[in-house]
Amino acid sequence: MTAASIEVRGVTRLFKLGSEDVQALQGIDISVEPRQFVALIGRSGSGKTTLLNIIAGLDRPTTGEVYLDGNRIDNLSERDLTKLRRRDMGFIFQSFGLLPLLSAQENVELPLRIAGFGHGDRTRMARSALDLVGLTRRANHRPYELSGGEQQRVAIARAIATGPRLILADEPTGELDSTTARIVFNLLRALSREQDFTVVTCTHDRLVMDMADRVEELVDGRLVAPGEGELWKRVRETARSPFEAAFVGAPQTEESASGLSSLVGADTTAFAKPERPAAPENGTNGTGSGQPEGGAPADEADSTASSPWARPQQRS
Ligand SMILES: Nc1ncnc2c1ncn2[C@@H]1O[C@H](COP(=O)(O)OP(=O)(O)OP(=O)(O)O)[C@@H](O)[C@H]1O
Ligand SMILES: [Mg+2]
Repeated sequence: MTAASIEVRGVTRLFKLGSEDVQALQGIDISVEPRQFVALIGRSGSGKTTLLNIIAGLDRPTTGEVYLDGNRIDNLSERDLTKLRRRDMGFIFQSFGLLPLLSAQENVELPLRIAGFGHGDRTRMARSALDLVGLTRRANHRPYELSGGEQQRVAIARAIATGPRLILADEPTGELDSTTARIVFNLLRALSREQDFTVVTCTHDRLVMDMADRVEELVDGRLVAPGEGELWKRVRETARSPFEAAFVGAPQTEESASGLSSLVGADTTAFAKPERPAAPENGTNGTGSGQPEGGAPADEADSTASSPWARPQQRS
């Protein structure tokens, strides 16, 4: 399994609210190469979450097409989309989306359970994912016993536990202070190289934008030319503090992935990408506890009308 490529062609999304039409996306064309780390920026309401939802197959474009590895996905059945999400995608949310009564280990095991992995595999894979984010020693902690940054690292472990090829993140650092945000983002980026997945993330965080391979800005549902967007210009005009510059100037090479260990204080070399079992046909969710509010990886509860992202969804 290798990182996924994405192609979005001529995508529009019109929401009808009573007599009012909201043209959330107005003709989006974007290609993301395997292993690219793309930051989507833009003002509130510019269409970032709508675009992420459409790439995730959680919502469908009004017109236009979406391809994953060259295969059209926007016209798949709900059932096939759900399978695709379970197998190939991981999700990270602003509000972490961890179940409060479960330990870090159990939270990370959830998507593995949904994907049909047996008990032994689940334990091993969740442990490996927690190792990767440097939280081996926090495996038995519940979310409230963890800092915000640690909680988001658990959420990253949960997103990567199944070995996804694409990670979609909506404001993953929105609730973290800037230093923690940088650590979390650096970790995600290093993991994307080491574990071979593509990342598309929305962010308002300019520190984070500097770390992406590519920044795309949405203005009123349209992508603007690189460097031409309002936010992007403002970011560029703002002088950086020497402290930030030291981070920003750090080499961002392939080898920086091996710096992962030092980022989280863990040996990450031991993690071998897990082999997947054959996907269960009727993927049973044996958790019995439902999904975290607005939180868990996509499961059978998904529908085009309900998004897992943090924004409370309105009617469509
Ligand atoms: N389900 C929906 N029904 C109606 N309108 C919607 C729906 N979802 C989003 N919109 C509208 O579409 C536009 C784009 O919303 P979207 O959530 O994609 O913005 P965003 O860029 O993610 O904003 P933020 O930074 O605040 O999260 C907004 O005007 C929003 O009100
Ligand atoms: Mg949003």
